[in-house]
Amino acid sequence: MPGVPHLRLGVNIDHVATIRNARGGRHPDPVRAAKLAIHAGADGITAHLREDRRHISDDDIARLKAEIDKPLNLEMAATTEMIDIAVRTRPHAACLVPERRAERTTEGGLDAAATRAELGPRIAALRAVGIRVSLFIAADPKQIETAAALGAPVIEIHTGAWCHALSDGDKAVADAEWQRIREGVKLARQLGLEVHAGHGLDYASAETIAALPEIVELNIGHFLVGEAVFTSLPATVKVMRAAMDRGRARVGP
Ligand code: PXP
Repeated sequence: MPGVPHLRLGVNIDHVATIRNARGGRHPDPVRAAKLAIHAGADGITAHLREDRRHISDDDIARLKAEIDKPLNLEMAATTEMIDIAVRTRPHAACLVPERRAERTTEGGLDAAATRAELGPRIAALRAVGIRVSLFIAADPKQIETAAALGAPVIEIHTGAWCHALSDGDKAVADAEWQRIREGVKLARQLGLEVHAGHGLDYASAETIAALPEIVELNIGHFLVGEAVFTSLPATVKVMRAAMDRGRARVGP
């Protein structure tokens, strides 16, 4: 449609690393997954280097930066360690997220309003070396206004609460969250921010949110990696069956 920007898909490959780390070896390699995702149409790759390195490792980030030919979006906490890594690695983009050791995933958005004194210099340090900074925040006017005041050029709206309400069938919460997202993205655009969204998206919620023209990028991971199991398991079982049959055929009389 003329005038409506392309909606980019950032594929988050963290949970390929989660599966790899369950055995501690090299398989499945998230960098190989990133290349396949790009081949299939991803506009960029997103990876979260967590303080506890529970999935993506420092080596994964170095290899992603060296080996993929689309933008790398590094999700990270706004800590001194991570800022140093980002400044050294120079990903295309850095998305600043809150991080709590005990959480299973990034449960809420960044409280930019409460942490603006620390965030300001960290955003500036990343921007100074040409990294596009985004803040992962709830669609809350106070957070959106703070992001703009801090000079972050991009925000990523946390869609988790909306997606959870949808999957729980909680229509009242889903409707209220959807309204909050719609109003939030409008405010962000009025303030000149580029708007992304992500967390918990699946086929249906991605289709719904894709209809908001203010949003130019979706970052999606867990659902894609989970769904890939179902779409690809039949093919891998067939390849394994064939390998076993070939081996067995070598048994002499
Ligand atoms: N965007 C951000 C900032 C995130 O922290 C995450 C989760 O790591 C995602 C997007 C992707 O969320 P999901 O894995 O639920 O699709």
